[in-house]
Amino acid sequence: MKKIGIMGGTFDPIHIGHLTLAEDIRDKCGLDMVLFIPAGDPPHKDSGSIAKASDRYNMTVLGCRDNALFEVSDIELGRKGKTYSVDTLERLRELYPKDTEFVFITGADSILEIDKWRHPERLFGLCSFAAAARPGYKNKKIAKQIDFLKEKYGAEIDYVESTAIDISSTEIRKSISEGRSVKYVVPDDVIGYIAEKGLYGFAPEFYPEFRIFSKRLKNELKPSRYRHTIGVAEEAFRMACIFGEDAHKAYVAGLLHDCAKNFDRDKAFELCEKYRVELDDVLKKQPDLIHSFLGAAVAENEYGIKDGDVLNAIRYHTTGREAMSRLEMIVYLADMTEPGRESYTGLDKIRKLAYYDLESAVAEALNRTIGFNREKGRVIHPLSLKAFEYYKKYYGRK
Ligand SMILES: [Fe+2]
Ligand SMILES: [Fe+2]
Repeated sequence: MKKIGIMGGTFDPIHIGHLTLAEDIRDKCGLDMVLFIPAGDPPHKDSGSIAKASDRYNMTVLGCRDNALFEVSDIELGRKGKTYSVDTLERLRELYPKDTEFVFITGADSILEIDKWRHPERLFGLCSFAAAARPGYKNKKIAKQIDFLKEKYGAEIDYVESTAIDISSTEIRKSISEGRSVKYVVPDDVIGYIAEKGLYGFAPEFYPEFRIFSKRLKNELKPSRYRHTIGVAEEAFRMACIFGEDAHKAYVAGLLHDCAKNFDRDKAFELCEKYRVELDDVLKKQPDLIHSFLGAAVAENEYGIKDGDVLNAIRYHTTGREAMSRLEMIVYLADMTEPGRESYTGLDKIRKLAYYDLESAVAEALNRTIGFNREKGRVIHPLSLKAFEYYKKYYGRK
């Protein structure tokens, strides 16, 4: 016989309050698992600030995925209109073995309203209740109501003291829409999902790095270079969303990709020495390429970037290299395709490819850059030649 906790709700979005409550009740009531059941869409959506049922479901899955004893059910997803607990429980009774015991998890305050719910007499026959309240929150009214429900319906209600965190999804949505941080309140994966989908008015410039880095970048880069930087960050963010890569990393790599671009020659050489950036013969002849290798060192040492993939995306954004990671390809391409690059000819094809086939977009881009530099009589960096050797097999891939 299994004892399953039921957490119903809109989960818009799921947050630490839901998760700590479910875990605490699971532990205290000896539940085998907790089933989260996100509600379907209301019949009349009042505003765009409420996420769709499918997004709320996906966020709930992401929020629960590191707990083997949490599961998410989609039984309410397709249902329009108000969800009644009694209907949900009746469906669960059909889906689970007969001897399953369901424990409906709720806040103690809801107990006061429960006999106004639909068909309480049926509901109490389908499940027991775990009513959670803050420690020391002794409420005579609730205790009296529990006695009353036990007598009238034969209800089984456990009054459980819980240290679960009390927090509201409304407040969280408001914070997100104002660009405030919800880290630790909402699981990281869920924040990533909100960012990628732009839920609750999230915009990439709400990332904390933007506020910190953009001040310095604005100071150090020419206005046109700064505009290009923002263009690359946003384009890399968009592409990462399309390809299911980490959009936050892509945005940060885009922001910093040209962070060493406006240093004069002396300063660039001085910093290369300081950060031990090795300059090969081609780089000495083509100082224009130095900024990407130096940029990675500056990003690491002065902007505190620790992620190797982000640093490589900065390091190889001008030359490319063979077998780039997806993040490297994204930043390499975004540097070329961001909307501000209007003056470049022949970009349309690369722009189109960049949204559905990274490798063949890279093959096109390398071909174009190498051809362009050859025409200008510039030395081609061996990394670019090797990269083209590697990527040409993707050329024109269908
Ligand atoms: Fe660059
Ligand atoms: Fe750039």
